[in-house]
This record gives sequence, C-alpha cells and structure tokens, in this order.
Amino acid sequence: MERLDKILAGTGRWSRREVKELIRAGRVLVNGLPARAPEEKYDRSGLDLRVDGAPVSGEAFYYLMLHKPSGVLSATEDPRQKTVLDLLPAHLRRAGLFPAGRLDKDTEGLLLLTNDGVLAHSLLSPRSHVDKIYFVRVEGALDQGDEAAFAAGMILEDGLECLPAGLERLERPDEALVTLREGKYHQIKRMLEQRGKPVRYLKRLTMGPLQLDSALNPGEWRPLTAREQAALERLRRA
Ligand code: URA
Repeated sequence: MERLDKILAGTGRWSRREVKELIRAGRVLVNGLPARAPEEKYDRSGLDLRVDGAPVSGEAFYYLMLHKPSGVLSATEDPRQKTVLDLLPAHLRRAGLFPAGRLDKDTEGLLLLTNDGVLAHSLLSPRSHVDKIYFVRVEGALDQGDEAAFAAGMILEDGLECLPAGLERLERPDEALVTLREGKYHQIKRMLEQRGKPVRYLKRLTMGPLQLDSALNPGEWRPLTAREQAALERLRRA
C-alpha cells in the first residue's frame, strides 16, 4: 500500500503540493470516488486513478528540462565520453531517462529528458509539426539569399531533402534564429555549410511549447512545470 500523494507525484507530473491541491479541488477520483486526503493508502495494482477524468498510470514518468552544455553527448551512456545523464543525480540516472531528440556534442540548449517513450515519439515525429528554434552564429554574413534558400527547402549535396525552414536574421549580420520542423543529422550545420557560412555556435531555444528556462545555466536542469507538461500532453493527443 502506498500513499496517494506518493503515487501521483511519482508520475513526475505534479509535485506533492500540487497533488494536495488537486485532491482538495476534487479533481482526483480513486475507483470512481473523489479522493479525500493525500495520506490515503492504496495498492497500485488494479487501481483506477483519474485526474480530471483522465486515467493516470501509476508508473513513474519523469520530464526534465536540461540546459545542455557544449562538450556532452546526447546519449544515455558512452564508454569514454560524458553524456547528458551524467549531469543528473543517481536516482534519476536509474529512472530509464533518455534525451527526446539529439543535439550535437558542441550544440547547447534545450533538451528534454524523459522516460515516456510515447510522448517522446509524438514530440519527434515529423507528423506532429513540432517546431524547434535555434540561435545560430556563423562565419560570414547572412543575407536574403540564405533566408530564401531556407524557406524554399534545401537539397543538400548528398541529395538529402530538407523541409522548408525559417531563417530570421538578427541585428548582427552573423546571427540568426533558425526554425526547423525536423531534426536530420547535423541539419543546420549542413544547410549553412552549403550556403558557405559555417556554423560557429548553435543553441536550441525552443521545442514546440517548451522554452529554455533562462534561469538554467548550462549543465543545469529542472522538472517541467505542470503547465509545460500539460502543453506536451496536448501534443500527445494531437
Ligand atoms: N542542427 C545541427 O546541425 N546540430 C544540432 O545539434 C541541431 C540541429
């Protein structure tokens, strides 16, 4: 038997304090009846647990926002090099987390770490149309021709076809925001290399509804807020 607040908070979707609020607001149903208190104990097996009518699995899902630093691999393990999981405490390293989408070793910025494979899949599937925005600095000066080439959808030298993408030039001629709807290997670097403007610095700022928290320094992470998780849930259903 486990406490109700532990079971619900263990999903990674709400803090214990949020669980308390949900219960107080009558939004939690246990076997069809409103839960009365966070301390109530239940056996997980066969438990029909719902929040706002939607079933909640008792499995612990975690959703973490990481500010990936440069020099760390977007992988779960590597015999020689440091991976993003090495930035987490031991109990989270054991939770089966993986990065939902990869950033190159030298790319910084927003990375979602989760053990929710279904959610990760819906976030990464091109059919979900989840835009990702990157800040980029190149060697050389970006121009209208680069914007037009991105917007038209580039075909790379090896024949790889890229979907139309956004390139919004910033004040400095060597800086821009790039919006991609897909994530092919080294995509931005390859697109800009082909334009003769090699990438010098790359940082992911957003992924669908998620925005890199400016309070996170490179290497730091935090759980997604309930609002961010709800925004991801909407993608799952899309
Ligand atoms: N495009 C790249 O070239 N590298 C990344 O890490 C992400 C997008």
